[in-house]
Amino acid sequence: MTVVGFMGLGTMASAIIDGLKTAAPDIQRLGYDPYSDNAHVEHVSIDDLCRRSDCVVLGMKPKDITAALASLPDAHPPLISMAAGIPLNQYPIAVPVCRVMPNLAVRIHAGVSALCFNEASDSTFKAFACRLFEPLGLTVTVSDEDHMHTITALSGSGPAFFYRIIQAFANAGVQAGLSESVALDLVTQTALGSAKLVQNHEAVSMATLDAMVHAVCSPGGTTAAGIQTFDTETMAHQLQTVIQAAIDRSKALGAPS
Ligand SMILES: NC(=O)c1ccc[n+]([C@@H]2O[C@H](COP(=O)([O-])OP(=O)(O)OC[C@H]3O[C@@H](n4cnc5c(N)ncnc54)[C@H](OP(=O)(O)O)[C@@H]3O)[C@@H](O)[C@H]2O)c1
Repeated sequence: MTVVGFMGLGTMASAIIDGLKTAAPDIQRLGYDPYSDNAHVEHVSIDDLCRRSDCVVLGMKPKDITAALASLPDAHPPLISMAAGIPLNQYPIAVPVCRVMPNLAVRIHAGVSALCFNEASDSTFKAFACRLFEPLGLTVTVSDEDHMHTITALSGSGPAFFYRIIQAFANAGVQAGLSESVALDLVTQTALGSAKLVQNHEAVSMATLDAMVHAVCSPGGTTAAGIQTFDTETMAHQLQTVIQAAIDRSKALGAPS
């Protein structure tokens, strides 16, 4: 039986635990976090976590990683760390280490998890880590670790940015007279349907996002009126600034202090 130990049982680790509970119920889940009473793991000491687990998932904030590593016993299993920004060279070099950037949608198996590995990782550990995250949504393996900063911004932080966009559209609907729940339902389903069409763009014979926009726009119509405002430099620039701010923060988190 596969045993996964979770050290740090906060928001993200709990989302992974919930996702695994339904997608991979045969995986035994152990946990260590003095301040969490997560009911979906067996709570054990750090020593037992390291002795019994096939790998230990580090689920604490980046600022707590150094202390967490120092608290591990000398002999510990391979590590999987979700700490944003912390590069692989800040983890032990002699054991396999996977740096993963998941997002909160892993809880409902619709997440994105990007994985990269240190040099001590062999193909068995890489396959093990990929198998752990595959049931939780899209999994990508990254060979250039520098890309993890961008991935952190786009898909790790991304849900919060999309929530803001959904919120802004729904607010516009409310200001125009709709109830909050109807506006939110309309916007959320439109976001979901549009994303699914992008994923299935070949089936609907639309090669590019521009072609997909074009398919909604008839000349002089309602979409064309709205898209003129959307296509301003300012809008594209603002969204790029959002992503760049998150990338910069990810780089700062991993920089030596
Ligand atoms: N939230 C997201 O959407 C998201 C997405 C992708 C990646 N991440 C990454 O996931 C990590 C955790 O984020 P989060 O939002 O889940 O944070 P969180 O809710 O604050 O969870 C972290 C947990 O770890 C505990 N902890 C700290 N040091 C520990 C130690 N040495 N041993 C055991 N437990 C310890 C914390 O306890 P205390 O509260 O007592 O400190 C807290 O319960 C971060 O590195 C973040 O970059 C988060």
